[in-house]
Amino acid sequence: MRNLEEQREYEAIQRAEEKVRALSVSLGRKPTACVVTFGCQMNARDSEKLAGILEEAGYEITDSEEADFLIYNTCTVRENADKRLFGRLGAVGSAKKKSPWRKLAVCGCMMQEEIHTEKIRKSYPFVDLIFGTHNLYTFPSLLDAVLSPENEGTLLIDVWDKADAMAERLPSRRKYAFKSGVNIMFGCDNFCSYCIVPYVRGRERSRRPEEILEEVKRLADDGVKEVMLLGQNVNSYGIKVPEEERSCFVDFPTLLARVAETPGIGRVRFMTSHPRDLSDELIEVIREHGNIARHIHLPLQSGSDRILKRMNRGYDRERYLFVTEKIRERIPDAALTTDIIIGFPGEEPSDVDQTIDVVERVRFQNAFTFLYSRRTGTPAAGFPDQVAHDTAQQGFDRLLSVVQRIAGEETAAHVGEVQEALAEGVNEDHPGLLTGRLSNNLLVHFPGEAAEVGQFVRVSLDEAHGFYYIGKRV
Ligand code: SAH
Ligand code: SF4
Ligand code: F3S
Repeated sequence: MRNLEEQREYEAIQRAEEKVRALSVSLGRKPTACVVTFGCQMNARDSEKLAGILEEAGYEITDSEEADFLIYNTCTVRENADKRLFGRLGAVGSAKKKSPWRKLAVCGCMMQEEIHTEKIRKSYPFVDLIFGTHNLYTFPSLLDAVLSPENEGTLLIDVWDKADAMAERLPSRRKYAFKSGVNIMFGCDNFCSYCIVPYVRGRERSRRPEEILEEVKRLADDGVKEVMLLGQNVNSYGIKVPEEERSCFVDFPTLLARVAETPGIGRVRFMTSHPRDLSDELIEVIREHGNIARHIHLPLQSGSDRILKRMNRGYDRERYLFVTEKIRERIPDAALTTDIIIGFPGEEPSDVDQTIDVVERVRFQNAFTFLYSRRTGTPAAGFPDQVAHDTAQQGFDRLLSVVQRIAGEETAAHVGEVQEALAEGVNEDHPGLLTGRLSNNLLVHFPGEAAEVGQFVRVSLDEAHGFYYIGKRV
């Protein structure tokens, strides 16, 4: 059954479809659409929803930015993410002059910040549509409006400052036939002092467990083998819900177990866990379910207590070491990966030493290292002791060499093992090779046929090359 919002949006898709049909007659071909994603898994999943709606309205989905309907789904977590967008927009603007029927939309996290929508309004007036993260589900209505002749040449801006309804059952078009992300919650209430996400994604909201399980079941029926449960802090799933709805929710470990027990689901991943909230129950659920990936991404951010406190992370290095030791003990084959920020205000070389020390102790399979980026509106942006770029870069380089050495050693440690890989695609450089993803998230390249893509295969890990293996089927 559809709710009111869903019904309204389905009707809008039908109206858009008529307009796309007319366009297709005048072009003499089926119009194309492309959604370009910046940022995280959340945005990737949102892009699949946008592509699904465009496809339903009659567009052919392509990867080409020369498409008749182009969407940039933006990220604003760090400054370089912003810069990448404006470079691309400029290029599209000149191309659009030659083909005036083409439409250009910009959405996502960056559009929740007025400074960016203003910049587009002033400097990139050829953009047709801007919308934000909270009204993504109204895209069918927005699409219909943009395609209406009376809006020709005007920039439609529709950005909400918070979310109201959740429209769950709208079309989506998976990028991969055999794997899919599944949102379990939206937003974030953690307010880490450096982070813009709570401001652009809004308050934390958990989806109902039955909606999630129904979606997982539908995906399994549709041939999906691997799902990734998505949330900014999955460990707080189901906690902040209205009192009267409490009884309808379960906690994250229970939800994860139910998803893993869904017939047909060969592997379950989740992103992201918070070191403050990761529970013993979660560790046990992973241990008991062989099809929950042996991979826990647990962002450290810093190994210095002084910095963690100023970051408002809610844990100290002892807690982080305690949790990771417990994971090592209970699930010895689980790989740990992390995110680390270097150059946070007030950070000194001795703080970087502390971070490197945690990396040495925990031995991450991989770590994503970021230079601190000052985000306007976050508390840390106002801290007086911002770190000079050169100092931050030195710390970054020191950290990176340790991270890379350990990651290489951890990868090499599994050479000779036989593991199960999900074949994800044909290797672009060597068409005789398939690329498979192991439970611990590492990649293996092995001889195989395109027909095997989407299947689980047992592969021997013969050689380690940095972050991947060369292997063969056994
Ligand atoms: N919810 C997740 C992270 C989402 S953002 C979590 O808490 O782990 C992904 C990563 O981007 C973060 O883990 C952090 O390492 C990095 N990041 C976020 N804000 C940043 C900033 N202002 N500067 C540099 N890196 C940042
Ligand atoms: Fe940002 Fe912290 Fe929320 Fe992660 S938990 S999204 S780092 S505020
Ligand atoms: Fe970027 Fe938004 Fe994700 S800011 S990291 S796309 S939640």
